[in-house]
Amino acid sequence: MNRFAGRVVAITGTGDGQGRVAARRFAAEGALVVGADLDAAAAALTEKLVRDDGREMLSVAGVDLTDEADVVRFVGAAADRHGRIDLLYNNAAAARLGDVTHTSEADFDFTFRGVARIPWLLTKHAVPHLRAGTDPAIVNTASVSGIVGAGMVGNAPLLAAYGAAKAAVIRLSQICAVELAASGIRVNCISPGLIDTPAVAGILGTGVDDRLRGWHEEQTLVGRIGTPDDVVSAAMFLLSSDASYITGHNLVVDGGWVASGGAGRPHRDVVEALEASLAAGLRY
Ligand SMILES: NC(=O)c1ccc[n+]([C@@H]2O[C@H](COP(=O)([O-])OP(=O)(O)OC[C@H]3O[C@@H](n4cnc5c(N)ncnc54)[C@H](O)[C@@H]3O)[C@@H](O)[C@H]2O)c1
Repeated sequence: MNRFAGRVVAITGTGDGQGRVAARRFAAEGALVVGADLDAAAAALTEKLVRDDGREMLSVAGVDLTDEADVVRFVGAAADRHGRIDLLYNNAAAARLGDVTHTSEADFDFTFRGVARIPWLLTKHAVPHLRAGTDPAIVNTASVSGIVGAGMVGNAPLLAAYGAAKAAVIRLSQICAVELAASGIRVNCISPGLIDTPAVAGILGTGVDDRLRGWHEEQTLVGRIGTPDDVVSAAMFLLSSDASYITGHNLVVDGGWVASGGAGRPHRDVVEALEASLAAGLRY
């Protein structure tokens, strides 16, 4: 497929995880990718991978996207190179996890800056360039923890600031969809469940306690942890012309975690016990 031939796509957080996969996949479909990351070495590796794929991308590395001047530098670099931005994929985020009572003021502020401030700043400064684009659209990245109070196996209390900040991203997306409609800019959001990236190696207990991965898998209906490709596929759909009638939507990409209430697939023992109970004539 070549859905993005000649389209200018600005992607944040291209140094690792989902952002790296996004840079490679958009470039593979003909997009003119402009990426940004705080981590210059990681961003350089992504650039090399894209070149090894036989494609090109412009990488603006060493930018802190919580900083307004750096955001202006990034979107300015994209516009200088290509004269416009067609699509904005707000992927980058950084957070510090903790429960309500133990989250420090510094960690709370860091998380809100790293999660909610970045897509707002990017949208603010990309919009003038998006208005110069063709069929412009934005996708923001929230999380299932912005939708429900839980979000971890065992309801581990880690997501106080992160979940609240991701809820802000969902609402920001809806507000932007309304405010930018007159400019012809569609705005959607993605809420991933647990996605296997280096960022969540601790949550998956990689190499330390492999039961954690199994527990997470059991909580989904699909029966596995998500991959960066799962999320990027959804973002590509929302940023493509196939989604031209979709705006203000929050697409949950979680293997059915939210739909099952985090309880996963029907449990055979429980189902059998219920069937026996109902067969005995008890009421619902
Ligand atoms: N991995 C998951 O389980 C999961 C689940 C739900 C939502 N998400 C969201 O998906 C998105 C991508 O997550 P990921 O797992 O790929 O993360 P990641 O940590 O692997 O990648 C994020 C990238 O963003 C960059 N970045 C962070 N802060 C930055 C800043 N201030 N300026 C510039 N670059 C910055 C990092 O350097 C990193 O390269 C994030 O918004 C994250 O909150 C992830």
